[in-house]
Amino acid sequence: MTPGGAKSTGGEGALFPREPRAVSPGAVHVPGWLSTARQRELVESCRAWARGPVPMRHTVLPGGGVMSVQTVCVGWHWQPYRYGRTADDVNGARVADFPDWLVELGRAALTAAYGVEGPAGSGGEPGTYTPDTALINFYDGAARMGMHQDKEERSGAPVVSLSIGDTCLFRFGNAETRGRPYTDVELASGDLFVFGGPARFAYHGVPKVYPGTADPATGMGSGRLNITLRETGLPG
Ligand code: SIN
Ligand code: MN
Repeated sequence: MTPGGAKSTGGEGALFPREPRAVSPGAVHVPGWLSTARQRELVESCRAWARGPVPMRHTVLPGGGVMSVQTVCVGWHWQPYRYGRTADDVNGARVADFPDWLVELGRAALTAAYGVEGPAGSGGEPGTYTPDTALINFYDGAARMGMHQDKEERSGAPVVSLSIGDTCLFRFGNAETRGRPYTDVELASGDLFVFGGPARFAYHGVPKVYPGTADPATGMGSGRLNITLRETGLPG
C-alpha cells in the first residue's frame, strides 16, 4: 500500500528527512509530522490533563502487576480491560472531556497517513473519523510496553499514535500472535503512526526507550510521551 497524500515536514531540521512508510497494509509511519510548536502545545495539554481531574498514574493490572508507563485518559477512561466515563480504579472522577481540536488532529493524521479516502472498509475515512478517547502514556527511560492488541474499542476505526520526546523502539506485529512476523520501527519526537484496516488489531509494543534523545524545545526535557487517539464505538 502506498501512503497517499502523506504530507510531512520530514522532521524539522532533519538533515536526512525520513519518508512516510507503509509498515504493513493499513499501518503507516509518518516521521516528523508534528511541528515543534505543535508538540509543545500538546505537551502543555498533556501536563494539564496529567494534573486532573484524574491524575496521571501507573495502571494496576488485575493480577496485581503495575504498568511501568504512567497513563492519563481523555474522553473515556481506559482501565484493564474496559472503558468508562469515570476512573473507578483511580479516584472515581469523571475524565476530562475530549476536545474538538483533538478530533480535527485525528482527521488530519488520517489524511496524512492514508490520503482522503482512508483504507478500504476500515471505517477510517478522515472526514468521518471521530476519535472520542485519548490514552496518554509517559515513558521514563526504564518504561516498556509489552506486545498487546488495542481491542477494548467496539469501533474498527484506526488508531492514531503521536510521539513526543525521547525516541523509542516500536514493535509492530501481526493480528494473530505476539511473535513474529513483526517490524521494528524507531518512533522519534513528532512522528505519527496510524494503524487501521487490516493492521487495526495487530499486536504492538514498546521494548525500549532511548533516554537523552528528546529535544527540549518540545517541552519534554526527558522521557517519552505517546498519545493514541481512538474511536471507542461506545454510546454517548
Ligand atoms: C500503546 O500501545 O497504547 C502505546 C504505544 C506507544 O507508546 O507507542
Ligand atoms: Mn496499544
